[in-house]
Amino acid sequence: MMATASRKPGADNSSSALSSSAQVKIRVGSSYRELACVFTLIFLPVIIFLIHSSSPAPSDPISLQRVEKIEDDPVLPFCEPPLHFLTEHSLLDCAARKARLHERNSRNVASKGKPGPQRLAFCFLSRGHLPHEHLWRRFFHGQEELHSIYVHTHPSFQFPNTSLFYGHQVPSEKVERMSISLVDAMRRLMAYAVLDPEHGSTNSWFIFACEVTIPIRSFSYTYDYLTKSRHSFVESFAPVSRYYSWETLPEFERWRLRKGEVWMALQRRHAAMILGDWSIYFKFRSQCTFGCNPDESYVQTFLALVDPGGIANRTVMYVDWTGIHISSPKTFEDRHMSPQWVQDIQGRRADGDGQYHDTSLDMEVRNLSRITRTCYYNGVPNSACFLFVRKVGPRASPLLGNFTQSILGY
Ligand SMILES: *[C@@H]1O[C@H](CO)[C@@H](O)[C@H](O)[C@H]1NC(C)=O
Ligand SMILES: *[C@@H]1O[C@H](CO)[C@@H](O)[C@H](O)[C@H]1NC(C)=O
Ligand SMILES: *[C@@H]1O[C@H](CO)[C@@H](O)[C@H](O)[C@H]1NC(C)=O
Ligand SMILES: *[C@@H]1O[C@H](CO)[C@@H](O)[C@H](O)[C@H]1NC(C)=O
Repeated sequence: MMATASRKPGADNSSSALSSSAQVKIRVGSSYRELACVFTLIFLPVIIFLIHSSSPAPSDPISLQRVEKIEDDPVLPFCEPPLHFLTEHSLLDCAARKARLHERNSRNVASKGKPGPQRLAFCFLSRGHLPHEHLWRRFFHGQEELHSIYVHTHPSFQFPNTSLFYGHQVPSEKVERMSISLVDAMRRLMAYAVLDPEHGSTNSWFIFACEVTIPIRSFSYTYDYLTKSRHSFVESFAPVSRYYSWETLPEFERWRLRKGEVWMALQRRHAAMILGDWSIYFKFRSQCTFGCNPDESYVQTFLALVDPGGIANRTVMYVDWTGIHISSPKTFEDRHMSPQWVQDIQGRRADGDGQYHDTSLDMEVRNLSRITRTCYYNGVPNSACFLFVRKVGPRASPLLGNFTQSILGY
């Protein structure tokens, strides 16, 4: 279990939540050799950071080969906990290397030391309390070996010690919608999940949920659905023309820009690519600023560039955009809750109700009817689409709590 370590505003931004179970104690003044070691530990990240930040953007086109770094790349010595002194850049770099190492080990049947069954790493992005905690508790019950939990909150928020989420907070920064800070929070969550001394080597799927997400299937169903999928579930589509108003060259051509929901489920190899990417990330951070929604287009574009065949281009999180809205989909409240509501979403075999929100197909054809697409799962059409639902408001929670296992699946 991780120690709770929420970052105080203004504090050194290199504190770590992961140091508790694998503290490496450094005795002061014991020998020159140890001192040299300490200096290397402290300055190597700085040097590497400087090398990284001063290298010009690569001019060769971005490719799967380059981001996957198939050849063995070493995990640097300072990547072991405690990680307090790492800059965020080095933290992500370490996590990218570790994730690639774990991926190689899991593929290599002959590798020594079985890491144990793979886990689903649930990465929650929440400002504070999660109103559906009791549902998550039910969902996770008895599945301790197969999942892990990480939560990014407002930096000043602390869960009470009775909460399911207590002890699972990662050092957090303030997050704003429609900004790169949301991408930063996602990358931070993945980095801590990968570097977790207890579960890092087995965390193999990264599921992003928000405070108004609920599961609508049993844990086993969800586990099989994800771990047997050949694709990550990332909604990724060509958006309406107003999103193309910025300069994407020379990193990528404008027509390759993609958009989609933030709430995705990623295989570890894709998590490793995102953690290790700087050129496309910096492009979005510096150029995709006003009215551009980097949070809904960076990962969607990046993975479509480097591994288009590896993503399903759809999400497993149901959301309803069909009503009149400005920038938020419908919130489901107590009046919407019924066993039929749950069963209807469980039974869907096509993505509709305003998925692909802002797709170019929708507006440019001036056809305001819904975009509906058949759900494919490992190439099989008319497969079940959804494992989770968003946005379910707090008032719906007590009613959902009364639904039996035969309805919710857990
Ligand atoms: C939990 O917190 C309460 C007060 O907030 C405290 O009294 C109690 O001892 C704590 N329990 C544990 C197990 O830490
Ligand atoms: C996802 O869309 C891309 C185009 O952006 C396509 O090349 C790829 O085959 C699609 N993925 C799947 C699994 O169909
Ligand atoms: C609009 O959508 C409907 C139903 O999806 C379809 O039958 C029709 O051909 C579409 N019209 C255009 C112009 O794309
Ligand atoms: C949940 O069920 C209990 C027992 O059947 C009932 O007393 C309670 O009113 C129900 N809660 C809601 C919100 O429907």
